[in-house]
Parts: sequence; C-alpha cells; structure tokens
Amino acid sequence: MSAKDGEGEAEAEQVVNPWEVSAKDGGKIDYDKLIDKFGCQRLEKSLIDRVHRLTSRPPHVFLRRGVFFAHRDFNEILDAYERGDKFYLYTGRGPSSEALHLGHLVPFMFTKYLQDAFKVPLVIQLTDDEKCMWKNLSVEESKRLARENAKDIIACGFDVSKTFIFSDFNYVGGYVLLICIFPPPKLASILILSTFYENMVRIDKCVTYNKVVGIFGFTGEDHIGKISFPAVQAAPSFPSSFPHLFSGKNDLRCMIPCAIDQDPYFRMTRDVAPRLGYHKPALIESSFFPALQGETGKMSASDPNSAIYVTDSGKDIKNKVNKYAFSGGQDSVEKHRKYGANLEVDIPIKYLGFFLEDDAELEHIRREYGAGRMLTGEVKKRLIEVLTELVERHRRARAAVTDEMVDAFMAVRPLPNMFS
Ligand code: TRP
Repeated sequence: MSAKDGEGEAEAEQVVNPWEVSAKDGGKIDYDKLIDKFGCQRLEKSLIDRVHRLTSRPPHVFLRRGVFFAHRDFNEILDAYERGDKFYLYTGRGPSSEALHLGHLVPFMFTKYLQDAFKVPLVIQLTDDEKCMWKNLSVEESKRLARENAKDIIACGFDVSKTFIFSDFNYVGGYVLLICIFPPPKLASILILSTFYENMVRIDKCVTYNKVVGIFGFTGEDHIGKISFPAVQAAPSFPSSFPHLFSGKNDLRCMIPCAIDQDPYFRMTRDVAPRLGYHKPALIESSFFPALQGETGKMSASDPNSAIYVTDSGKDIKNKVNKYAFSGGQDSVEKHRKYGANLEVDIPIKYLGFFLEDDAELEHIRREYGAGRMLTGEVKKRLIEVLTELVERHRRARAAVTDEMVDAFMAVRPLPNMFS
C-alpha cells in the first residue's frame, strides 16, 4: 500500500498523518503524545491572552476552548506583529468531496477570525492535484470539486480584498502577465511568471528521497506524483510564490492554521526554509473534529451518518444527533439522576464546545448534565438548535456565492489594501 503507515511505524497504536488518523484501539487520540512526537509546542493560556491584548478582541471560541491546542513559533509571529511587522496567513483544502462536513469548516472559521483580528492577507490552496493522485479522481473532476469547495470556503465570510484562493492545477504552472508597451493591439509583451514552480524546484532540491520516506512513509509502490507533492504544499509558505501579492517582500512571515495531521508537510517546509533564505512558517494547529459515534470513531466519507454535512436538512440533523450522537448519559433516568453524565465521552457536549459560543450557557449545561439534573435529550435538543442554525446560515451564505465571486477570489491580482 501507500504512505499510510508513515507516522505509525514507530508506534503501532496511534496513526496520525495527512492520509490517516486513527487512535489506539478503542481509545482516543492522545494529543499530548502527538505534541511530543511531532515536536510542536502546546498553545499556552499566556499566548491566548496575548492574542487578546494585541488584537483588542476576545479570542475565538476555538482558542478559548482549546480546539487549536498546539503551535510552532506562534510567539514569534506575535513578537513581530507587536513590533509592527505584518504577516500573511496560508491555509488550504484538498477537494475530495462535494459536500463539506462541520469538521471541514473548523479551520476556515478560525482563519476568518485570524484574518479579521490581525488584518492580514490570506492565501488558500486548493490541492486538486493532491486529491487527483490520492483519491484517484480524474483531473477534470478534481478541478470541478475545487471550484465547488471554493464556494463553501467563500461562504465562511472571507474578505475578497485580502484573500487569494488558488487551485494547484490553475496556478502552479505560472501565469501570464500581459504588459502593454504600446496601446494594444500594436505591441504587447508577454511575461510568464512561475515563481511558485521555481520555489517547488528549490524545495525539491533540499529534500532527499530518504527524508520524505522518513516523514511520510512512502514506499517503492507509490507513484512518483506522491513523492513530489510535498513541495507543492510547502511552496505557499514562501512569499515569493505569490509575486502579484508579495513582490519584494521575501522577509514576510507566514502563519498556517491547520489540523495537526498536516504537520508533516510543514516540518519538511520548516526544515528547508532557512536554506532558501526564508523565515520558517509558523503554525497553529487544531485537534480533530470527532465523529458522531464518539472520539474513538473516525468520520468517514463512506458513512454519511458519522458526520453532519453542510448540506444536511434540519430533519437530517435532528435525526443524526438523536440517533447517532454518542451519549455519556446513563442508560436509565434513575441512574442518570444518581451518577450524572460522563462528559469526557459525550459527543453532544463536545460539539457544543465547538459551536455554542456562550461560555456561561455551556458551563451551565456541563454542570447540570454532569450532575444528572439535565438529561441527554435536553442537551441534544440544544445541540440540534445550534447546529441547525449554523448549517442554515452556511447554506444561505453559500447560495449567495456566485460564479463571478469565485472568479474574483481566484483571479491572479494584486491586493492593494491587504494589510489595512
Ligand atoms: N493537504 C490538505 C488537505 O488534504 C490541503 C492543504 C493544502 C492545506 N495546503 C494546506 C491544509 C495548508 C492546511 C494548511 O486537506
């Protein structure tokens, strides 16, 4: 098979890499272990307080509740920001499916907050090439999915004057800059800019085959497309990959919000950055959004009942939550009143932790439910309301995204006001 055993070889029990996330049998992902193994840092409260101070706005729920829990050099980004140096944000999505589930929205909701709070530009990579190779989709289908997914991403509320969305198939090969020397149609000079690809080659030259095998676990059976892909995901970490945005700003820092399974790509990137004369990209990393069946399970594309999709109707949401959301409540009312719910394994509580913004209400529910005074049915009812509202809001926002808007976000263009 392919790279799936990459991070798992040393520790057979827990596997976390860009292609596979699975906990030790019957257990949960051990995030402390992951931090140790990957060598990133825990996101301490002091850093979150600092974000509050520097941005003069309350830290996002995902920061307050520890959804984003690990980082690399985030403190350096904040140091630089405090000195008056801006940075840019980079995130992405592999367009492997038509409909996104709530877990897919998490990094984008958070990135939107970061963009607003720090007032910085953002590049979003749609790795249609990656999914074409790993999911065995055709080039055409991958490109179509990238555009469809771009609509969901735009629906998260990004600012078009600060955001560049690109698909690898469209952007990586470079783009044409038409310079009119004399009024057209007389004479025009065509310049093809392909600094993205130039950076890929620079990165490729710094990484040996043994190194990618060590990081990603590729085997001799993997096709060479997979082996060359990590440079594609690394390149956006360097400002010169976007000459229409950051020309002459090779010193600009990059910060990447992502789920922690993407860490291997950026370990590799950080390794090569100083050799190419760039800052190492900083990272802020999230835990995984749990499946309805519980944190031991995996959200699986083949099981639509393991996740809530942004296309689910109110009825679907109600049915899925009531039927499948793993409950930490006791199995009889008497026992529940006596012992209370086990909040550690309770999925409705976990989901409310992501999406119920009111800290006081969440605390109230946790207390009452944990003490057995509130029943599972009541907690699920509140969760259904919260999720229905969220999905409804997303649906409305997505319906308002036109093809022209997608073109506008994806146009290769300067962003004159991106730092204000
Ligand atoms: N590989 C990611 C995925 O499959 C997509 C991606 C590309 C990404 N660049 C990124 C994710 C930067 C986070 C940050 O979803």
